[in-house]
Order: sequence, then structure tokens, then C-alpha cells
Amino acid sequence: MPKDFVSLADWTAEDLLQILDRARQLKHLLKAGERPQTLQGCTLAMFFEKPSLRTHVTFEAGMSQLGGHAILLRPEQVGIGTREAPADVAKNLSRWVDGIVARTFSHALVEELSEVASVPVVNGLTDLLHPCQVMADLQTIAERVELKDAVIAYVGDGNNMANSLLYGASVLGLELRLATPKSHRPASRVWRRSADLAAASGARISWSEDPVEAVSGATFVYTDTWTSMGQEAEQAERRKIFADYQVNAALLEHSADAFVMHCLPAHRGEEITDEILDGERSIVFDQAENRLHVQKAVLERLIVPT
Ligand code: CP
Ligand code: NVA
Repeated sequence: MPKDFVSLADWTAEDLLQILDRARQLKHLLKAGERPQTLQGCTLAMFFEKPSLRTHVTFEAGMSQLGGHAILLRPEQVGIGTREAPADVAKNLSRWVDGIVARTFSHALVEELSEVASVPVVNGLTDLLHPCQVMADLQTIAERVELKDAVIAYVGDGNNMANSLLYGASVLGLELRLATPKSHRPASRVWRRSADLAAASGARISWSEDPVEAVSGATFVYTDTWTSMGQEAEQAERRKIFADYQVNAALLEHSADAFVMHCLPAHRGEEITDEILDGERSIVFDQAENRLHVQKAVLERLIVPT
């Protein structure tokens, strides 16, 4: 089992399914008022270079529910790469805490932290990947249909969410159809690695420029912001590039029964309309809720001594 949770591509289908199963159990236990104290006395350091609502709160609440504690570290407090080299930060934290969550711009920084730290490092989102979100998404999908029967269509930017969905689907052998502009396809290295994983798992992965083609017959239609954190200067240009990729009532006529997914935060009126985000097919707040449960399962898996 890998030490870290940096990329779903590093994990086996068996491990991911076990984490999802434990997440389902932890959700059930919490609703029954039970909070297993599996991480009692443990501490998690959470380093966030970018804003966050869901990732920050769910990791902090999750640690506290498991009997542990979390410390939020902001870049200005740490000065990673300016006040202190990333490797030295990782070595220090490893002497004090039981795990590290890092949300960074550069994926290479999370990889460096994970290589140097002796404690587990969890990717809380980088420009390249957002694996914790996809685990919550898979839990949410599994609450509706058998994962193997899901037909997931992702419409919009080939960003960190698209990349992570590619890895999740290709490890687990699922069907994922991507619709992005040619200019904003997922990262080619992610696409190539997914293709290799898919060849082994039997996943059906496809890409098209046409959102209608992707969503036709899909059981889940997923979208994400057209302007990810750090790309704000490109927002006006991106609104034009992705104008034909909005998830709205007209597009969903091609997938009559599909559930609608979004990792949030949503840019309402851009990638998704209010009507759809707030509509009866939307399961976006189930996804957000499941961040809590699945990350508790990830933390247990990485931190609890076996
Ligand atoms: N979906 C997600 O990661 O949300 P935050 O950016 O608020 O953490
Ligand atoms: N693609 C988005 C995801 C936010 C959870 C971003 O990186 O800003």
C-alpha cells in the first residue's frame, strides 16, 4: 500500500474499494451517533496555499470526530520555499504530526513533500489532481448505482477534476466520457497513464469535443468551474472558450435520468445553471457531505498503525 494519497493512479482498485466501503460504514456510524476514536491523540497538519471550504472543514472535522486534532497552516505562516525549503518543512512536520494534507498550486511540491516526509501526505488539491474529491464522488455514485454500471460524463475544462476522474475511472474499470474543447483536453501525461490503467482494468474512457455526445445515455453528468483557482486572470477568455459546455436544461435533455454532479464551488450561470444545480437531479451536496466520510476513511487507512 502506498504511504501517501497523492494520486489515485498509485492505488489499486481493491484498496480504493476498501476505502469506499469504510467510508460508507463511517457515514452510517456517524448518523447513528457513533464516532469511533480510531485516531485518538493523532495530529494532522493541513497546509493550504489556496482557499478552501470543503477540504479544510472536512479534514478538520474528520480528525476531530476520529479523536484527533488538525492544525491549519497558511503559506504566510510557513514560508515554504522562501523562509524554509519544502524538504525541511516536511522533515520538521514528520517529527511532530501523524499526517500532512497539502493543497498547493504545483503538483511537484506535493510530490516532493510526500517523498521527503516520513508521515503520510494527502493531496488536498493541486493544479493537476484532486483525488479526495473523486473518492467522495465515487462514494456518491455508489449510493445511487453499482459503480460498474455508472456512465459518467464530464463536461467542461480538462482540469484537475477531469484528470482525477480519469485516474479514478481507469483504476476501477468504469465508463467515463469526457467532453472538453480540443485546446483544454486533460494533461497528456494523465491521459497516457489512464489509458495504460484502463487497458488493465477494462475501463471505458473516451474523449470528444461534443458535450451532447458525452452526455447521451449517461447516468451521471459532472462539471467543474471553467476557471480554476489561480486562473482568475483568464476568466473572461475562458467564459468564451467554454460557452458551449454549460450544463443546462437543454444539454440534459440528452440524458433524461442522469444525476448532476459538481465538486463545488460552482460559478453559477457559467458552467452550470442555477436551475440544474438546485434541481432535483443534483447530488452536489451529497458529494460535499461525502468528503467528510471518505477522507476519514483515507486518514484511518494511512495513519492507523496496523
Ligand atoms: N471541492 C473542494 O475541494 O472544495 P474546496 O475548494 O472548498 O475545498
Ligand atoms: N478545478 C477547481 C476545483 C475546485 C475544488 C480548482 O482547481 O479551482
